[in-house]
Amino acid sequence: MRCALVTLIFGLGVEPSAKVKNPTPQQISSLGVTNQQISEPPTYVELQPIFIRSCNACHSGPFASKGLATDSYASLIKGSSSGPVVIAGNPQGSALIQRTTGKVQPQMPLTGPPFLADTEINLFTSWILAGMPQGQEATPPVTPPPTSDEITYANVAPIFAQRCMQCHRENGIMGPPPEGYQLMSLKQTLSIADRARVVPGNAQASELIRRINGLAKPRMPLNGPPLTPDEIELITQWVDNGARDPAGRSSSIPIGAKVRLHGNLSELWSLDGLRLDVNSATRFDDTPRIGDYVQVRARITTQKSILAERIRRR
Ligand code: HEC
Ligand code: HEC
Repeated sequence: MRCALVTLIFGLGVEPSAKVKNPTPQQISSLGVTNQQISEPPTYVELQPIFIRSCNACHSGPFASKGLATDSYASLIKGSSSGPVVIAGNPQGSALIQRTTGKVQPQMPLTGPPFLADTEINLFTSWILAGMPQGQEATPPVTPPPTSDEITYANVAPIFAQRCMQCHRENGIMGPPPEGYQLMSLKQTLSIADRARVVPGNAQASELIRRINGLAKPRMPLNGPPLTPDEIELITQWVDNGARDPAGRSSSIPIGAKVRLHGNLSELWSLDGLRLDVNSATRFDDTPRIGDYVQVRARITTQKSILAERIRRR
């Protein structure tokens, strides 16, 4: 139906750059479209549920991704740090359409798949063609926070997007990603290419958790204030509950993967309460003692325990 409207608008010979007026019912019925198929282009207010569900988590507040806030009409029209993302009458030239269709990468929402449905992208297209009408402001619905076993990547990705991705990506503000570690997608976050920084089901064995709660130094994010206790708790529970993907599926524990952890030896041998297995092959450098800040290189065993290969005082 929306496709029909878009075709119709172009069919009426309106300049794409002009603010497109709605065709009158007479014009439409003269084109053989029934009243049932007539629909007004949506307004921002009507699109708001899509922004709330799929975009605002990253695109709002002081750390909004790329400076783009989609949670109010004025800020959406204002655009991102590189300028407007919607150009009246020109959906193809609008970053909002380019990103939601994946014509420009990374595709939005960044947590996808799933991405937006074609019907939703068509709604954005007709909204832009119609010159982005605002509509009557309504009070946006409040979504309750997820319970701990419902937390998925979709809940934590906004924090990574707002606080971590500016560095942990290709061509970030520090150049190449620090330690080669990218945080632009779930796959990258869980990658074990060099070593696992997230061990699904075991937050204590996850260097990412140690970096955000300050057990490992330097604390992350490297610039700016630490994450709030609620944010740290959310990410910790996400990891402990299996680092679920947006569809709710748990990620598997990477048996055999390497880990490199930092923290204080709380016992011989445990790192801030995380039990470490040692064997005759384990190397100890500079006689680490209880209370010392150490670096542990280890492997995840088939029993899912952490077998230390080297413990070194730092
Ligand atoms: C998980 C976080 C996240 C979600 C959810 C998300 N975005 Fe983004 N968005 C980003 C990040 C990070 C960037 C910057 C990417 C880059 O540098 O290319 C970005 C960039 C963009 C840009 C490019 C701005 C420009 O000036 O080039 C647009 C447009 C955009 N997002 C729209 C959306 C829309 C619309 C949605 C919802 C359908 C959405 N985003 C959902 C994180 C997110
Ligand atoms: C301003 C840039 C910057 C930001 C923002 C940032 N980091 Fe980092 N990150 C770094 C640098 C630099 C290092 C390497 C520091 C070191 O260990 O000497 C690093 C290291 C790490 C490591 C250790 C990687 C490894 O291989 O052991 C993790 C995990 C990490 N960051 C996670 C995060 C998370 C999660 C966030 C957001 C909450 C974040 N970082 C935000 C710059 C940044």
